[in-house]
Formats: sequence, C-alpha cells, structure tokens
Amino acid sequence: MDIGLMNKEYAALVDAELERALECSGAPEPLLSAMRYSIEAGGKRLRPCLALGVCDMLGGKREMALALGCGIEMIHTYSLIHDDLPCMDDDDMRRGKPSNHRVFGEGQAVLAGDGLLSFAFEYMLEKGLAFNEKNYYRAVYEISRRAGVSGMVAGQARDLEAERGASMDEAELRYIHAHKTADMLAAAVLAGAYSADASDEQLDALERYSEKMGLLFQITDDILDHEGDQALVGKTLGKDEKSQKLTYITLYGIDEARKLAQSTAAEAEAILSECFGEGALYLKKTVSKMLSRKY
Ligand code: IPE
Ligand code: IPE
Ligand code: MG
Ligand code: MG
Ligand code: MG
Repeated sequence: MDIGLMNKEYAALVDAELERALECSGAPEPLLSAMRYSIEAGGKRLRPCLALGVCDMLGGKREMALALGCGIEMIHTYSLIHDDLPCMDDDDMRRGKPSNHRVFGEGQAVLAGDGLLSFAFEYMLEKGLAFNEKNYYRAVYEISRRAGVSGMVAGQARDLEAERGASMDEAELRYIHAHKTADMLAAAVLAGAYSADASDEQLDALERYSEKMGLLFQITDDILDHEGDQALVGKTLGKDEKSQKLTYITLYGIDEARKLAQSTAAEAEAILSECFGEGALYLKKTVSKMLSRKY
C-alpha cells in the first residue's frame, strides 16, 4: 500500500466536498473569501484522512465519514485561524501563506473562525438529516465534545495559561497535548468508526490508538517548531521557545522529546496489531509517517 497515494485520493475527495459545501454556505463577502482562504490554503488534511481510513478499514459508509471528516476539517481550520491571532500565538504564516488576519484583518479573521465553527455543525447536521442514522449523531456529539470546552478549547486555554507562567509540570503538559491536539484526532478516528458501526471493543481500541497518535503528533509539532524547515512546515518556527511555551522540548530537551515520540509511536502500533492485525496497514503507516514527518 502506498500511503502517499491513499492520502492523495482521500484529500481530493475532501477538497472537492469542502469547496462544494462552502460555495453553498450562503456566507456573504468578505466572510466567504476569508473562510475559503484558510480552507483552500490546504494543510495535510490529516483528520479527514484518518476518518476515511478508519471507515475503509472497517468497511463502513464512506459518504458518512466524508461528511464528518469535512466538518472536523472546518473546525480544525477555525482553530488554526484563532490560534494565529495576535492575542494568541501571534503568527504571521500558516499553511505556507500569510495567516488569515494578516490578509483580512483581525475582525474578519475572528469571524472567519466563528463562521467555520458554526457552519461545520450546520453542514454536518444537515447531512445527518439525509443519513438519519443514530451512529452519525453519536459521531457529531463526539466531535462537539472534543472540539469544545472540555476538549480542544480547554487545551488551548491551558496552553495560554502555561505561557503566562502557570504550572509547568508534566501533568499539565499531558493535559494540554491531550486536549488541544489529541481530542480532534480522536474525534476523526471515532467518526470513521461510527460510520462503520464499530463495536464497543473496536471503539475502545481506536480511542486508545488516537490518544497515542495525538501525543505523537503534538510532540512532532513541537520538534518541528524547534528544528524544522520553515519552507516545508509552512509556519513561522522557533516560536515556542521564544514565547516560553510549555512543550516536551522546553521541559525535557530535544533528545527526550525524540525518545518519547518513538516510544509513543511503538505503543500506537502495538494497539493496532493487537486489535486489527493486517487490516490496520493504513493506520500503521500513518503512525510511522507521523514519526518521521517534515511538515
Ligand atoms: C496544526 O495541525 C495544529 C496542531 C494541532 C499541532 P496540522 O499540523 O494538522 O495543520 P494542517 O492542517 O496540516 O495545516
Ligand atoms: C495549536 O497548537 C493547536 C490548535 C488547537 C490550533 P500550536 O499552537 O502548537 O499549533 P501551531 O504550531 O501553531 O500549528
Ligand atoms: Mg497555540
Ligand atoms: Mg500556534
Ligand atoms: Mg506548534
């Protein structure tokens, strides 16, 4: 299996559906352009790819995973627009382009984020009326919970607090990673599972897998911020240290961070082997891709 090819195929489905959905959103200008700007800037589309990959692994309904994956990508993109604002991480570059507020101004960028967040749910729920399946709504509930005040928003709030010198220990760091990053990855993985009527046992294994993936993903994000190639990563690097962010690198150093990334990847793979055997090839390759990623 060529994972690069699989991801290209998934991303093409996602890009086409996102374009179609935003076109029909009814948003006026300049709101529509601001929303489209950040969506069309691209990104890895990791979350919808995971939703589709899990759904395919379990033989589920692709159109459901696609709708949920696109909703998640809208929420993720809103979180990036707000994350870059001067009142948060104050970043000028995102997805290889000037960040949203640098092009549309802070007010419109806040609204583009608000727009993507609220439209994500409008879009997913409207799709749900056609599917009319309980598992679809369980997935939308899971997404709302993991995006919200006990999920990604909670992690972002603690991340900002840590920057202002609040507690700087490993428990706090784990909380921040689990929520600002892992929750949205878990939402995507579970959305794929619900699209395939996964059993409780499968859901449990996939949740454990996505927790490991989330941790791995944020450690490698922190490593890239420390020593990545800005042209490849597409965002301003070296910001974490400058703004005294709480990361594994600021807490323990780069070598420990690398070791933890490796052991976390091995744990994620072990969960997959134990529960899904050969069928989990795509998810396994995603783990190794995450470990060696350059962007
Ligand atoms: C960046 O996410 C924000 C984090 C959760 C670390 P991605 O690295 O997935 O960003 P895109 O979607 O590829 O731009
Ligand atoms: C933000 O984490 C995660 C989000 C929920 C947006 P970071 O602040 O580390 O993400 P980057 O490095 O700006 O993409
Ligand atoms: Mg941030
Ligand atoms: Mg940031
Ligand atoms: Mg970062």
